[in-house]
Amino acid sequence: MQTTTLSANRWPGLIERYRAFLPVTAETPVITLMEGNTPLVPAPAVERLIGRGVKVFVKTEGANPTGSFKDRGMTMAITKAVEAGSEAVICASTGNTSASMAAYAGRAGLRSYLVFPHGYVAAGKLAQALAHGSNLLPISGNFDAALAIVREISATLPITLVNSVNPFRLEGQKTAGFEVCDQLGGPPDILAIPVGNAGNISAYWKGFSEYKAKGFVDRTPQMWGFQADGAAPIVRGEPVENPQTIATAIRIGKPTSWHLATAALAESQGRIEAVTDGEILEAYKLLAREVGVVGDPASPASVAGITKFAAFIPDGSTIVCVTTGHGLKDPDTAVKTSGVGELTPVAADLDAVKRALGLN
Ligand code: F0G
Repeated sequence: MQTTTLSANRWPGLIERYRAFLPVTAETPVITLMEGNTPLVPAPAVERLIGRGVKVFVKTEGANPTGSFKDRGMTMAITKAVEAGSEAVICASTGNTSASMAAYAGRAGLRSYLVFPHGYVAAGKLAQALAHGSNLLPISGNFDAALAIVREISATLPITLVNSVNPFRLEGQKTAGFEVCDQLGGPPDILAIPVGNAGNISAYWKGFSEYKAKGFVDRTPQMWGFQADGAAPIVRGEPVENPQTIATAIRIGKPTSWHLATAALAESQGRIEAVTDGEILEAYKLLAREVGVVGDPASPASVAGITKFAAFIPDGSTIVCVTTGHGLKDPDTAVKTSGVGELTPVAADLDAVKRALGLN
């Protein structure tokens, strides 16, 4: 019988894969959960809405180990914290950063602290932070207030801040830009992305720009950022004191990386626009029901945005929409948007089941 030999082909995690682009040395103690290498899924249902030969892909960042793109930045931030001898980390979060921090900190043996806006973090995200053993504290205030507090704590105590003000976060996150180019065999024409604290849009732009500078690609995409209408400081050009949106992950009124995002938008000749909660929920349903990707409620802002502003998309463009997190973290939104009320059992009887399902 003929035998075949398997050769090990294990994804090594993004620090290893993109080591040449990252601030690490051979001595750096890499803390990884093998994040990155997330699927780039074709989205024909979105293409049909836009038409004109436009190609749409979804970069499913919910497929990262803790279910969001935050793992890209966190593998770097925790690795560098360990390298620097830190024993504790802290963040403010709308949920995903903290889930990621908790997992990587736990793995590295660091204590972790989370300050979050009470009542505005989805259940699954808090459950993750608890499961990974983080120290949690809700405040009666929003994300912006929580961030101001943890910045103060990390400035005065030996605790490393792992929000995206930590420059290593964006270094890790920029690898998503590399990956998109590697997967497509070149850059897309447009990169569409939800914007909250504005770190991710800035990181993608850094990635695309570095890939071009090093000659891996010959051009960069336009960056199209989308904020929720009730939390759209960059679109409005001023901070929002009391941001509101169903997409709690991007319920942010004073983005940390505002200036970086503005530069990315200008340099890429992109655009920043607002999408309403209604538009976000429509895109959430489209993605879940017709593409097969259930995203964090912030994620469909990218798809809502390109359909809303389709008139500005040139014929035949290739677009990558980033879905930033996994929808399973927010089961309440999944249940509510389904429109299905409370489920009540029927008898365990063939006829009763067929009747209840409308199959007779
Ligand atoms: N999508 C999801 C699912 C997020 O969790 C976030 C940010 C964003 C988009 C926006 O990315 O802030 O880089 O513009 N979540 C942060 C958190 C604020 O605490 O988890 P951004």
